[in-house]
Order: sequence, then structure tokens, then C-alpha cells
Amino acid sequence: MSRVVCPGSFDPVTNGHLDIVGRAASLYDEVFVAVLINPSKHGLFTVDERVEMLREVTAKYGNVRIDRFAGLLVDYCSANGITAIIKGLRAVSDFEYELQMAQMNYRLAKIETLFMTTNPQYSFLSSSLIKDVAKYGGDVSGLVPDVVQDRLRDRLVQR
Ligand code: PNS
Repeated sequence: MSRVVCPGSFDPVTNGHLDIVGRAASLYDEVFVAVLINPSKHGLFTVDERVEMLREVTAKYGNVRIDRFAGLLVDYCSANGITAIIKGLRAVSDFEYELQMAQMNYRLAKIETLFMTTNPQYSFLSSSLIKDVAKYGGDVSGLVPDVVQDRLRDRLVQR
């Protein structure tokens, strides 16, 4: 069985992430979407909230599993029988850091990293940019799932 992981912060999930997850789900038997638990970084959404949103928006895929992890990604992969990491590449600017991580992960545990080119419709998207635009009342419809848009509105109004 081919089992891969799409790791990330997903604070929050965007349509760009979802595009990659959906395409990975059509190529592999099982796709784990793993949210990093990073105690040193305070996100807009808690890890539980990010997991909830991801579960909701990937419910239509029978072979996508939402999970969370702490520590090294390669240890998470080894513990779950995952043989490859899937990453989306938006632009050349992503490449240097991604290449470094891919080579380190291979060096650590011989885990392969496979890069998928982002759908050009979403190549300018990032969770940080979405939060910034939403914070100042900009329109993020079509860039994040509706449930995320609602949660962004609620969260930013509370602040
Ligand atoms: O969505 P992000 O924040 O760009 O995702 C980065 C992520 C979670 C993939 C990366 O930070 C990661 O794998 N962190 C886990 C810790 C780890 O394994 N570090 C060594 C990477 S070579």
C-alpha cells in the first residue's frame, strides 16, 4: 500500500493545500495530512481547530486521513509506515528551503520527498497572506473553503 503524507501548519488550510491533497489522493492509496504541533509558535487557530477544518473539507475523500504530529516529520513517517512526503511548490522562491528539507529528511531516514507543482490558480496563496487579507476585511472567497472563511470572520471579529 502506498502511503504518503502532506505535512504543514495549515493555519488555516487554503484551497491551494486542498488542491495538492486532492491530487495526491488520486495518486496514492492513502494520504495522511499531518498538522505540526509547534509549541513555540502561537497560531491564529489551535491545532484542534485546524484538524477540525481539515476533516470537514477533506471528508469527500475516502483515502485521506487527518492527523497531527510533534517532533521530526521523519519519525512520524516511520511510525506510520509512510514512505514519501508530498509538497506543493508554488514558485522558485519555495524551492531552496524545500530542497534543503527534502535532502535532510532523506539523509535522516531515507524518506523521499515528491514535489507537486501548485495549480497556477493558487500559486500566490499562503495561509499567512490569507490571514493578513482577512484581518483587514479583504475578500478571501474562492481562496479558502467556505468553512474556513466563516471561521476567519468569527476569529478576527473576536479579537
Ligand atoms: O506549512 P509549513 O509551516 O511550511 O510546514 C513546515 C513543516 C511542518 C513541513 C516542517 O516545518 C516540518 O517538517 N517540521 C517538523 C520538524 C522537522 O522534521 N524538522 C526538520 C525538517 S528537515
